[in-house]
Amino acid sequence: MKLKTIALAVLIAAAVLPAQARKAKKFTHETVAIPAVEARVIAVETAGTQLLLQVDSRGEVRTVHYGAPVGDPAQFTDFFTGFNHNFGAPNAYPTVGGRFNGQEALHVEYPDGSQNTELYLTGSEVSSREGIVTTTLHMKDYVTALEVDLVYDAHQAEDVIAMHSVIRNPGKKPVRLRNFASASLNLAADSFELTHFYGGWATEMQIDRELLTHDTKVLESRRGTQNTQGNNPSFVLSLGHPFSETDGATIAGALAWSGNFRISFELDQSDRLNIVSGISPFASHYPLAAGKSFTTPEMIYTWSADGAGGASRNLHRWARKWGVWNGGQVNPTLLNSWEGAYFNFTTETLLRMIDDAADMGLEMFVLDDGWFGMQHPRNSDNAGLGDWELNTRKIPEGIDYVASYAHSKGLKFGIWIEPEMVNPDSNLAQAHPDWVVQSPGREIYQSRNQWILDLSNPAVQDFVFGVFDRTVSLSPNIDYIKWDCNRRVMSFGSPYLGAEQDRFYVEYIQGLYSVCERMRAKYPKLIVQCCSAGGSRVDYGALRYFNEVWPSDNSDAISRTRIQWGTSLIYPACVMAAHVSAVPNHQTGNVTPLKFRFDVAASGRLGMELQPKALSAEERALADRCISSYKGYRELVFGGDLYRLASPYDGDFYALMYVSPDKRRAVVFCYCLRFQNCSIATHPFLLQGLDPALSYKVTEQNVDSSCWWGDGRSFTGAFLAGGGFNPAFEKANTSAVFVLEAQ
Ligand code: GLA
Repeated sequence: MKLKTIALAVLIAAAVLPAQARKAKKFTHETVAIPAVEARVIAVETAGTQLLLQVDSRGEVRTVHYGAPVGDPAQFTDFFTGFNHNFGAPNAYPTVGGRFNGQEALHVEYPDGSQNTELYLTGSEVSSREGIVTTTLHMKDYVTALEVDLVYDAHQAEDVIAMHSVIRNPGKKPVRLRNFASASLNLAADSFELTHFYGGWATEMQIDRELLTHDTKVLESRRGTQNTQGNNPSFVLSLGHPFSETDGATIAGALAWSGNFRISFELDQSDRLNIVSGISPFASHYPLAAGKSFTTPEMIYTWSADGAGGASRNLHRWARKWGVWNGGQVNPTLLNSWEGAYFNFTTETLLRMIDDAADMGLEMFVLDDGWFGMQHPRNSDNAGLGDWELNTRKIPEGIDYVASYAHSKGLKFGIWIEPEMVNPDSNLAQAHPDWVVQSPGREIYQSRNQWILDLSNPAVQDFVFGVFDRTVSLSPNIDYIKWDCNRRVMSFGSPYLGAEQDRFYVEYIQGLYSVCERMRAKYPKLIVQCCSAGGSRVDYGALRYFNEVWPSDNSDAISRTRIQWGTSLIYPACVMAAHVSAVPNHQTGNVTPLKFRFDVAASGRLGMELQPKALSAEERALADRCISSYKGYRELVFGGDLYRLASPYDGDFYALMYVSPDKRRAVVFCYCLRFQNCSIATHPFLLQGLDPALSYKVTEQNVDSSCWWGDGRSFTGAFLAGGGFNPAFEKANTSAVFVLEAQ
């Protein structure tokens, strides 16, 4: 071929071939060398558990054990993990790339379009502080230089290991994180029974249970906000046996993240379970700029040989110390205005409710929704959200007047806000249309007549913090804020993020947390409740900043037994606000005795949410007694160890008890939920957690006449565990509360 013809052929090829092909690298079979490392086992240990990470000579790291301590970790150095090699073996943080075909924790798209990452250990270190030993594994992909740190915080006394990862892009161009989980845990057992949560508004934290079979089970939320309304980023896993409160290897896990989450359980060809947990990558292929790192939220794990009861107690102990703002602190009993007054009140209404709350011995009054909005008054849920100025037509004297009145009566004072939201019918919506979550040209869907503010926008974060700050500044006598969030994201979109919508779901929650950081820096002592149309934001991400949650808008004591039982699997009673409300119940129409309502609410942070004027003199007297006896045992509810004795999901009876750490005091709550057979008007509740050798005096609470023959007598811990209580329950919705004191 002549030179001219060749040149023409090259030109034509250049014009016809796609751009990528023209730029394609020259492929060789050369590979990047992986430096050899010393094969060893890294042990992450707590007082009662061991997580063992086996490092091979290539620097690949695998989880070989999580459970009871097995002694010298070196025994596992050459341990054959039994992975099916057709499938590949997941490492401690599986990636898309390499020989593994299972579900990944990390999936990165690089600037050249490649998507493989293979992580090898480059080093590790251990540090400790206040009972936490932190092991950090430094991992690297030698081809792309991407770095990942796997961080394991081992909480010694609580037997909790909190895991997260830090993903660093040391390159010169951005990469895209298509999946960026917090942690992966690989487990071997004969069977895996998963207990997880489902529900909806007013039916949060219901129990679902299933034996995991091969392939993948996913717990996921894509709601943006209100991520725990339908399910919860947490679970209990029974290893090799069915769910048991008292026996058998059991793992509980919870992700500390209030946004979209994904926890997936893949039972693979090797019969091993790989649990990958973290932020959901749904619509979030997150861009990681050159030189930047991304820190994933913590996945909190505990293991116990004592069934779900043991696992819950570990989590609760951890939560009171590390997972909840001022966890374990005894928070005041209260009267909340919502179900008693809704939007219809004046100063006079509030002052009389404060009088009644003080008379009944309650310790705080909380003014709920409806106090704000002048041009767009908040007289229903149609208007006013966003306009956080006092409605002087309802309270002309001002919030300080009402708060000071409460203080003059010996009560603390709290107030409601919902700072992330805006009604279209508000000044805020008109002034800042670009602050509303929306997608250009599409309908901005309303839910509860409101829109959602774009917390990924720093200006909105400032506004939301300002709402909080200005509300607290309404009076020096504000002790408590109820922070609500009454809708989820729909048709998502951030005007602020422009073309980078993949950042929206992640940065909304990061924006929320940054507001919470400011809130806590300025107001460390304020009690702040995390409410989200009830229990739609019940997670350990939020609880780092909040003192308590409102587990459900459903205040019916019957419904609450199930909601509170479910919540207690993962979250401690100190965060569980529980209110006595009117009958027929406003959500369900059910009618239950006042004593039953008190006895259910008293197993959490007790409150009332009704119009006290509607109570009869007899009911008021019972309320006084219940509130005063609660004050006598509530430190057990806030700080004791929980033992669930009978589940409302399993039968006609429900019971639970809290025991002081020194086992000298306990409080027992027993309930009859259905009464079907008058010849069986009693049910033995076998107590747990007591010292068998101690003698306990039993005193029934909240009653006129006792329903147990043993009231006022003393029994050994051994008797109470073996013979137990058998109160005479002769009707559905009857209940009994007993305090036990060692003699
Ligand atoms: C939500 C909350 C309720 C109450 C109302 C007020 O539904 O969960 O407790 O505060 O908002 O609008």
